[in-house]
Order: sequence, then structure tokens, then C-alpha cells
Amino acid sequence: MRPELARFLDPKLGLGSDNLQTFHREGDHVDEGLWLSADGRWNPIIRGVPCFLPIALRPDFSEFFRKHGLGVPKQDDAAIKAESEQQAKTNVTFSDKWSKFRNYGLEPGHQEFLFDWYCKKLGLPSIEALKNFYRGKKLILECGPGSGFNTRFMAENGGGTVISVDISEAAFTTFGNTKHLPNCHVIQADLNELPLPDNTFDFVIADGVLHHTPSTRQAVESLYRKVKPGGQFFFYVYRRMGAARYFCDQHIRETFSKLDPEACYKACEGITEMGRELSKLKAQVTLEKPIPILGIPAGTHDVQRLIYYYFVKCFWNDAFDYETNNMVNFDWYHPHLAWQHSEEEVEGWLKDLGVKEYAFHPANPNGISTLVRKPE
Ligand SMILES: C[S@@+](CC[C@H](N)C(=O)[O-])C[C@H]1O[C@@H](n2cnc3c(N)ncnc32)[C@H](O)[C@@H]1O
Repeated sequence: MRPELARFLDPKLGLGSDNLQTFHREGDHVDEGLWLSADGRWNPIIRGVPCFLPIALRPDFSEFFRKHGLGVPKQDDAAIKAESEQQAKTNVTFSDKWSKFRNYGLEPGHQEFLFDWYCKKLGLPSIEALKNFYRGKKLILECGPGSGFNTRFMAENGGGTVISVDISEAAFTTFGNTKHLPNCHVIQADLNELPLPDNTFDFVIADGVLHHTPSTRQAVESLYRKVKPGGQFFFYVYRRMGAARYFCDQHIRETFSKLDPEACYKACEGITEMGRELSKLKAQVTLEKPIPILGIPAGTHDVQRLIYYYFVKCFWNDAFDYETNNMVNFDWYHPHLAWQHSEEEVEGWLKDLGVKEYAFHPANPNGISTLVRKPE
């Protein structure tokens, strides 16, 4: 963390150099330290990342306080709300995943696939257009960056400042992948309780994140508040799929989300193998009639994709190695919170927020890619 992060934080927190204690520096970063905010909250900085998590979601910092001879602050003992428990369980998935898959999206083979997909999600024709899109943004907020590959791309190609926020240990992975970039800052916080001012960001992005919180709608509202008038907001959330796929999702999650991460990776292996073997067939079927009861449109379908989209998520993509493909399936079945929505639902939320300008970009069948502009 560089101390100039203070410039971008909510002034109400009163965070500056006078209440920042530095215990250890690494280059221009505070590697270990403590920030005391005006509301009396202690915000430890550990491994370069300041923690603004709400009390209910904080890890046990007692060792950190002992090490630095600090009195352990009295924490609010209020009962942890049920929804924090769900979020905490969901964080276990992502802390594990992003501690293992630190290079996701940073390898050239991944980038081609992922940034082509970003173009589709944002409704842009090419990678050059994607870079141009970011070039116009002075201040960007990414929530839920995972490995940080997109945070890094925006900071490298946009030239503006990128603030990247994750609730899980993914924050450390993102920091590791972006700390060399002077226009990038990483913090650990809940997107529903951000230490950032409202009406500030030119662009806010949350890709595959909001459905992993206790309420997707509330998450949309929380981030929309951070967008400045005239600014843009992109989010991608899971789409409610047809009945067979929905049944399988519920049925498998019911069991897999209760496993510890290692056991869940193992349990996903058969599903990943099925995806790989189906994909090897390179077979297609043409359905002249749609099957509305299962949400299947008429047309020509790749067999692996037909099963993947409408029956059981068995992801496979040749751009990734076996472990990464298996991780994508783990990412689907392990999180406790993983809501699915319809476009009508999302449209309703946007209408209630007073949004006039928005588009759903058809990037893939099982997600809703939404780009919103906040009225001036
Ligand atoms: C499926 S990953 C997506 C990562 C990345 N955006 C990508 O597309 O590869 C979801 C990320 O959102 C983060 N996340 C979930 N709930 C969050 C919250 N309430 N506040 C901030 N981050 C959150 C998780 O820790 C995880 O890193």
C-alpha cells in the first residue's frame, strides 16, 4: 500500500499520514502498518494490503497486535449476522482459489480468451477498442478482482488510477500482481461497506462478483452509489438457466458447497473430465425446434456446450490446463452464495435506481452482462 491511497478514500474516515503507523516498508509500499480511522476503527496493513473489513468478517488479528506491542482493540461483540456467516463461508472458496491460481488471466493463452470475452461483455469490437474504453477513465474501481488480471490490464492500458477491492485473500494475489504499477491501489473490504466516497468513479466494474454476496440487488445499489454522475458501471451476474441445469446446479451445490476446498476440487474432477471428453468430440447437433421447458433454443449446438449450458456445468476450454478447468467448475459449485437472476429482475433494479441508459450485451448464455450509465 502506498500512503497516497489516502487521497482516494472517503474523507469522513480521516485517514492520512498523521494516523498511519508504518512498521515495515518494502520499496514505496507500507508492507506492515496500522491506520486508525476517525470512527475509531483499527485497519491493519498486512503483506501490503490495508484491511477495511467489517468486524464480523475480519480474520483473527491478535498475533499482529501482539507482535507490534499494541493492545488488542475492543471489538464490537454484536452477534455476527446470518448474512455475514454466508459471506464468510463464500470467502473461504475465493481465498483458497485465488491463493492457488495466482496466474489466472495473466498467461498469454488465457488473455486472448478472457479479453475477447471482455470485448463481448462490454459490447466492443476489438481489444484496441477495449483499451480505448479504459483510456478515457481517470478513476476506476474494480470490485472482486480475483487474481487481478483485469485490474492490471486497466491500469496498464488505461493510464488512469485503478482502485481494486476484494473481500477475500484474493486481495493479496491482486496486490502481488499489480504492486509494480504506481497507478494501482489494492484494499481488502466488503463492496457493501467500502471506505470510498460516493459519486466518484468514472467506471466501476464487478465481473462475476455481485451474485456471491448476500444480496445481488443490494450489491448493485452499493456500487452504483460510487459511480460519478455521467460515469459507467459494468457488472456480470449469473443468469437463471433452464430447469434441468437449475436442478443440477442446486443438487450438486447442496453437497459440494459443504466440502472443504480440497475435497471439492477432487469431487469436481469427474465433471471436468466429462467436459474435456465431450469437447474432444467436436460434435454438433441441430435442433429444428426449441425446447422452451428446458430453456433450449433451436439451432446448431456444440454438444459439449449444449450439455454445459442446459444440463450440467462441465466447463472445458483448451486455453486452460486441466487444473484451471477444474478450478472453473469448483468456482461454480463450491461458493455458498451464488444467486442466479433474470434480465427482467436486473431491469427492475436499474429502473428503481433511476437508470435511463443501460444495455445487456449477449456475451454468453449463462450470464447477464450489463453496462449502465448513471444520469448526469
Ligand atoms: C468468481 S471471482 C471473480 C474474479 C474476477 N472478477 C474474474 O472474473 O476472474 C469473485 C471475486 O469476488 C470477490 N467477492 C465476493 N464477494 C465480495 C464482496 N462482498 N466484496 C468484495 N469482493 C467480493 C471474491 O473474493 C472473488 O475474488
